[in-house]
Amino acid sequence: MPLARSLSITSLSGLEEWDEEFDLEDAVLFEIAWEVANKVGGIYTVIQTKARLTAEEWGENYFLVGPYVESNVRTQVELIEPTNPALKRAIDKMNSSGCKYAAQCEEPPHILAHFHEWLAGLGLALCRQRQLPVATIFTTHATLLGRYLCAGSVDFYNNLADFNVDKEAGDRQIYHRYCLERTAARCAHVFTTVSQITAVEAEHLLKRKPDIITPNGLNVKKFSAMHEFQNLHAQSKNRIQEFIRGHFYGHLDFNLDKCLFLFIAGRYEFSNKGADIFLEALARLNYLLRVNHSDVTVVAFFIMPARTNNFNVETLKGQAVRKQLWDTAQTVKERFGKKLYESLLVGQLPDVSKMLDKDDFTMMKRAIFATQRQCQPPICTHNMLEDSNDPILTCIRRIGLFNSSADRVKVIFHPEFLSSTSPLLPMDYEEFVRGCHLGVFPSYYEPWGYTPAECTVMGIPSISTNLSGFGCFMEEHIADPSAYGIYILDRRYRGVDESCNQLTSYLFQFCQQSRRARIIQRNRTERLSDLLDWRYLGRYYISARHMALAKAFPDTYFYQPHDSETAQGFRYPRPASVPPSPSLSRHSSPRQSEAEEDDDRYDEDAEAEKDRLNIRQPLTLPSKKGPALPYTLPGANGEK
Ligand code: UDP
Ligand code: G6P
Ligand code: GLC
Repeated sequence: MPLARSLSITSLSGLEEWDEEFDLEDAVLFEIAWEVANKVGGIYTVIQTKARLTAEEWGENYFLVGPYVESNVRTQVELIEPTNPALKRAIDKMNSSGCKYAAQCEEPPHILAHFHEWLAGLGLALCRQRQLPVATIFTTHATLLGRYLCAGSVDFYNNLADFNVDKEAGDRQIYHRYCLERTAARCAHVFTTVSQITAVEAEHLLKRKPDIITPNGLNVKKFSAMHEFQNLHAQSKNRIQEFIRGHFYGHLDFNLDKCLFLFIAGRYEFSNKGADIFLEALARLNYLLRVNHSDVTVVAFFIMPARTNNFNVETLKGQAVRKQLWDTAQTVKERFGKKLYESLLVGQLPDVSKMLDKDDFTMMKRAIFATQRQCQPPICTHNMLEDSNDPILTCIRRIGLFNSSADRVKVIFHPEFLSSTSPLLPMDYEEFVRGCHLGVFPSYYEPWGYTPAECTVMGIPSISTNLSGFGCFMEEHIADPSAYGIYILDRRYRGVDESCNQLTSYLFQFCQQSRRARIIQRNRTERLSDLLDWRYLGRYYISARHMALAKAFPDTYFYQPHDSETAQGFRYPRPASVPPSPSLSRHSSPRQSEAEEDDDRYDEDAEAEKDRLNIRQPLTLPSKKGPALPYTLPGANGEK
């Protein structure tokens, strides 16, 4: 039965603890999205990670509605009978006669329906058009037109205020979808979006300023041992190294211990996600590492789903060859061990020259023969359906990063989301991220950008941009983001070539860090997790819901903005362990002397404690709203 619920929302130091009491008796929440139990991109992550906190507030009166996809239902949904009689009747009716509205009961609850994205927006428009007694929220995670305009060669941010939106949508043949989105945004009781930058975009393209910004959170895992996440990094890295051993069989002429794993991941939007400038920066990095005779090798992974017809033979063969070498080594080891054992049993030291016999050598020669390879290690792990037009492959052909021996930067394109059941790289995405060294997300269009946020809570440094919701949010809340391993590329005020140079220099600096410096940096990155926890960020969704109920049912609900919504301004100070003097702090990422290179034993606890105490100081920094959009940018995309 509906209950009045009380929810305790965690605060960061400097902000009051937020105990929310809002009488939700007789209220029911429906959240509707195409990505409910249906992974396409980040909206799935929003819904999936937020569910726990929302269920804490709404209990059994919280319902998620999404598309019925048989395979997803089998793997992600537990089928149960509804306990609420009104809902049961509605579902029975829907099942027997199609999707008609039927929630008639004697004492109807107050219904709140939260729609995400234009695909669900039609339901919202119909609720309003039919004047149903439903409080509505529309959250947009991007604007359709913004996404399309950015993916083309339009100078988006300089022209935001001037687009003829109807014409632009018509020209791109998305007019009908655009109308749905605009209608949903316009007629919702409450309209929200995920970041300040998208709020400005929505104001111009959808003609409504969002009522509340609802930044995306995550469920932060707390480990009982403070450095558990460092151990997880080492474990996952070992697994990625195993994959590399197979992928580069016959060409393993680089030191895996000095190998750094970089990656970009997400829906395949080549220039919106910045895959274009990442590739260009990798080519420049390759040159820099070569001319500086660096012993570091970089492997850059591109995890972006494209149309394929499965893994290619050469990549699968790589893992098979690796496995065969492993098995051979195990067999020879066992035979060796047996001979050694027998020799010791009769009280003799073994004759080393007889420990390996002819059969052993034949077996090993055969295994080595199998590693002979005429071609370079493949760039792409799958057979692409549109190989010749694929933007990543086309760019790689142009810049010539072909995984040759001389290249210090190798590239692997995995055009499918990762899965622990893959025969090639059996890791889920989280494990993979943990094993990498740096996430690179140089997006041009990115309303939020979960991928760098996920890196942060796992203690993995990342590069994002000041055109992404996440990048702006971190810039707003952290005094020196790069000191924490949050590198924010300038794509607002610089042209493409300049941004690319900046990215190259971030990457080159990263490659020069010692192991110890990377460990310190991961510790700092992980310390930012609380900022991205739903326990903190969930408050904005809660406010949006309360605001919608109060607008739709003013006789029952009253909404007053919470102090913390207006009094923004929490900022993490620079880590105490970063030296304050300008000459010493020029590199805000931790760098060590040559002598300390590779030394991973240092007093992590003392360093961590110093930084934590610093973070807990009362904060007196002035509050700062999200940065205003500049209207005189260098012609970003236009310059491509
Ligand atoms: N992701 C995933 N498996 C992968 C690669 C990515 O599940 O192999 C997820 C990732 O965890 C993230 C989402 O894809 O939550 C991408 O979301 P983001 O907001 O960064 O971008 P979007 O693709 O929605 O534009
Ligand atoms: C973690 C582990 C260390 C390991 C290090 C490798 O911190 O706890 O034992 O040496 O990872 O770091 P790297 O940046 O070289 O992968
Ligand atoms: C969209 C945006 C992405 C955001 C996600 C979740 O897919 O492209 O930037 O993180 O929604 O809000």
